[in-house]
Amino acid sequence: MIELQGLTKRYGEKLAVDGLTCTVRPGIVTGFLGPNGAGKSTTMRMMLDLDRPTHGTVLIDGQHYRQLKDPLRTVGALLDAKAMHGGRSAYNHLLCLAQSNGIPRARVREVLDTVGLTAVAKKRSKGFSLGMGQRLGIAGALLGDPQILMFDEPVNGLDPEGIHWIRNLMKNLAAQGRTVFVSSHLMSEMALTADHLIVIGQGRLLADTSMADFIRQNSRSYVRLRSPEIERLLDVLAGAGITAVTTEDGHLEVDGTESAQLGELAARHKLVLHELSPQQASLEEAFMQLTAESVEYHAHSAPPGGDPRPVAGADAPPDAPPDGGAAPPGGGWGADWRKKKGS
Ligand SMILES: Nc1ncnc2c1ncn2[C@@H]1O[C@H](COP(=O)(O)OP(=O)(O)OP(=O)(O)O)[C@@H](O)[C@H]1O
Ligand SMILES: [Mg+2]
Repeated sequence: MIELQGLTKRYGEKLAVDGLTCTVRPGIVTGFLGPNGAGKSTTMRMMLDLDRPTHGTVLIDGQHYRQLKDPLRTVGALLDAKAMHGGRSAYNHLLCLAQSNGIPRARVREVLDTVGLTAVAKKRSKGFSLGMGQRLGIAGALLGDPQILMFDEPVNGLDPEGIHWIRNLMKNLAAQGRTVFVSSHLMSEMALTADHLIVIGQGRLLADTSMADFIRQNSRSYVRLRSPEIERLLDVLAGAGITAVTTEDGHLEVDGTESAQLGELAARHKLVLHELSPQQASLEEAFMQLTAESVEYHAHSAPPGGDPRPVAGADAPPDAPPDGGAAPPGGGWGADWRKKKGS
């Protein structure tokens, strides 16, 4: 297990990580979420002793990272897939890691096979695509067969098959009783992978809770109803003391009453329902709700005919277009700018 106690990192004026206290437990996948610049990578670097905390401590199975006898056999990590010698082949990169950590050579082939890179094992990693680099980084994390695994945005650059693969890999590693700590910006993916969430914003802990509780606590759940007899339905609901809100598209939304109870009430009054569906916000909506105030890097929405340039200082989101421009949210926004740029 990984224990953080008052973990703090200051870079000059910038408080990147601010008194984080939490525990990452074995046997589950723990998602590490936060807006750009929240301090996720800095926290992970401090866990691996790559950055020295300004205050506080990180203990890995009760020890500081630097006290671990066999670090690679205790913690496997992928922080930066590009942090490798590009002139080395995938095989040699892993072999160097294995030899300097007392790991048998045969394990190199095993992990290359696990991540699907056997066919390109002899190719230099500088020619690898983003996704291949991520896979090689994951192979390095798995090399020492460690009980603790840490991945900083591992699905970056992976294709759908790769995303599916890493989701199952992380779940399997957790099911084997290992500690799996993973950061990601892909909320839909996290919702499918993580059992527990640690959410930070501007370096501070915002939530440390199960996935289900996180969504429940940070979003509204309600039941949506549709009926050809909407007026009668409203009367029946009012008669039962249930408040319903009529939406613009003619649906009813009811808070605080189970769908089963609503269905039975409608049946008792022989009301036809075309829809009776419990609605739960997605992880993404719950995340946006919780972190709204701690987002530092906002992209401005498109001003109609206004300045279409990307906001200075805004960090590009991982799925931003390669030219660094923000994706045009409305028809044609940005098109003029590109034309001008080219002319
Ligand atoms: N070496 C450094 N020197 C100065 N400031 C740094 C350094 N590393 C990180 N920071 C700052 O610390 C803050 C946290 O950065 P960090 O990379 O940990 O965020 P993050 O949550 O990983 O963000 P992202 O989601 O964009 O990867 C940022 O404001 C960043 O600019
Ligand atoms: Mg980061």
